Amino acid sequence: MKIRRLNIAAAMTALMFACQAGATEDAAAFKTLAKKKGCFNCHRMDKPVLGPSLEDIGRKYGKDAGAPDRLFKVIRNGSKGGVWGDAAMPRYAGLSDDEINLMVRYILSLK
Ligand code: HEC
Repeated sequence: MKIRRLNIAAAMTALMFACQAGATEDAAAFKTLAKKKGCFNCHRMDKPVLGPSLEDIGRKYGKDAGAPDRLFKVIRNGSKGGVWGDAAMPRYAGLSDDEINLMVRYILSLK
């Protein structure tokens, strides 16, 4: 009985680590990709530059069911400007769907 309980506790701990590892991997992959593609020329994590801060974007859309679709399109096609300020965001034809999905997932996880 005791052993069984220990196993459950161990399994739960392993699961918690696995979830955290997933989030950490997303963050690392996002930062590598964002640096390579120049996102940080216009975005910072925690303060607006030319574009809004990534944390502000996460806070604005985090609970919005249509957000993944919307942000995917902005990253792929660029924007016309006018949502956050007058500046527009360039389009990113060189990113794969998987890369964009990872970026969207990570940005929307920010608070
Ligand atoms: C040349 C500057 C520039 C670069 C480079 C850039 N952005 Fe942006 N981004 C902007 C601006 C400006 C806005 C605000 C646009 C608006 O108000 O319509 C924006 C908005 C966004 C938004 C929010 C869209 C919305 O509808 O609210 C996301 C998400 C985003 N950028 C992600 C990225 C990612 C990911 C990259 C790199 C692949 C990137 N940006 C590179 C300037 C840039």
